[in-house]
Amino acid sequence: MQEKKSIHGSWASRWIFILAATGSAVGLGNIWKFPYITGENGGGAFVLVYLLCIALVGIPIMLAEVFIGRRARQSPYNALQELAEESGKSKNWGLIGLMGMLAGVMILSFYSVVAGWVLQYIVSTANGSLNDITSEQAGAVFSGLLADPSTLLMWHSIFMIMVVVVVIGGVNAGIERATRIMMPALFILLFVLFGYGMSTDGFEAGWDFMFDFDFSKLTWDSVLVAVGHSFFTLSLGMGTIMAYGSYMPKRASIGSTVLAIGFLDTLVALVAGLAIFPIIFSNGMDPAAGPGLMFVSLPVAFGQMAGGQFFGTLFFILIGVAAWTSAISLLEPTVAFLVERMGMKRSTASISIGIVVWAVGILCLGSFNFMSDVTIFGKNIFDTLDYATANIMLPLGGIFIALFAGWTVKQKIAADELNFKSESLFKLWLFVIKFIAPVAVAIVFVLNL
Ligand code: PFF
Repeated sequence: MQEKKSIHGSWASRWIFILAATGSAVGLGNIWKFPYITGENGGGAFVLVYLLCIALVGIPIMLAEVFIGRRARQSPYNALQELAEESGKSKNWGLIGLMGMLAGVMILSFYSVVAGWVLQYIVSTANGSLNDITSEQAGAVFSGLLADPSTLLMWHSIFMIMVVVVVIGGVNAGIERATRIMMPALFILLFVLFGYGMSTDGFEAGWDFMFDFDFSKLTWDSVLVAVGHSFFTLSLGMGTIMAYGSYMPKRASIGSTVLAIGFLDTLVALVAGLAIFPIIFSNGMDPAAGPGLMFVSLPVAFGQMAGGQFFGTLFFILIGVAAWTSAISLLEPTVAFLVERMGMKRSTASISIGIVVWAVGILCLGSFNFMSDVTIFGKNIFDTLDYATANIMLPLGGIFIALFAGWTVKQKIAADELNFKSESLFKLWLFVIKFIAPVAVAIVFVLNL
């Protein structure tokens, strides 16, 4: 049988797939969001629940997304429909893909605003204006940025243009090559910062904060946040990894590939936490400071470090690149869909969706200033989009993908694609995807209502 190919192209090798999927997974979720939600949810117990979610729910669902995408070689909506048909089931399963596309637009609109903050910090670090800054001053600089809609709009617009340009380029040789250099560089710098964190007198407090499992601090809401974040950080539940999987070479092993992606993503999040919290504690700052955590702690640390201006600039550049590769992956499933279904040109599709995201992004950045009094259930628009996607839409998408892979798709198809070394490994996966993952996520959901 001739091997099926995606009309959008395919990754040159398994390594490129790992690189691209890791580029999607490792982003603001790891370096910005993980530390601050850990801080808001009391630390250790939250981290433990998060790790459990990655292992028990995230990895099995990622396996499902990759094999579904690779089997069908189409964008998520079409892939789900095709596999449902092949298995003699209703094409309505495609609707999960539709919800995913909506989630992608919603996530990208606030993600781009935060990426814009990073771009501003590249400039501020590079021009030395953050040198020797105190924690109070750093807090004031960050609040000043949030209060300034025109600067936020400028960076949000620049970032969206960067994203759209790459997505227009297609399954992008350019960004692949860039990530090949940038991802290792990000790792190295993260460890440099981690080393700095270790040298501060707040390291022990930071370590304890992350790894002292005090369950009295855990609420059902924090468990939901941990579940939601495990989807967000691994780019699951909305078809991103499915879309990337559709470009994956046939012969590559899905199991080891997915483990590599999950491992790298988790490593970056933990090291980012261990770099940031010691700085917080040694400067007497508040770990529960929220979204500003990274933007206030890092400038203080770099301001005191030898060569901090240089390393700080480099570090913010790398966070920007990590955000960029993730943002690209948020747009790709929808663009691929419009090209396949509507016969749109890739450029038209990318620009159209880009404009929608850009417009919604303006509402998000306004949440910090001119629209701060607009709230939905007590949350501003930025927080609403974040909460609705990460804590509701992605877990819901995840439940459906698990049910689809476990119950709807013919077992033979799943077994062929996953091609595990042992039969019992497949049985284990099947059990988790049929029962554990959907039930666990559903319970957390219901208990939260
Ligand atoms: N995984 C990305 C991060 O941790 O920053 C964010 C993300 C990308 C979420 C792609 C969802 C997605 F489909």
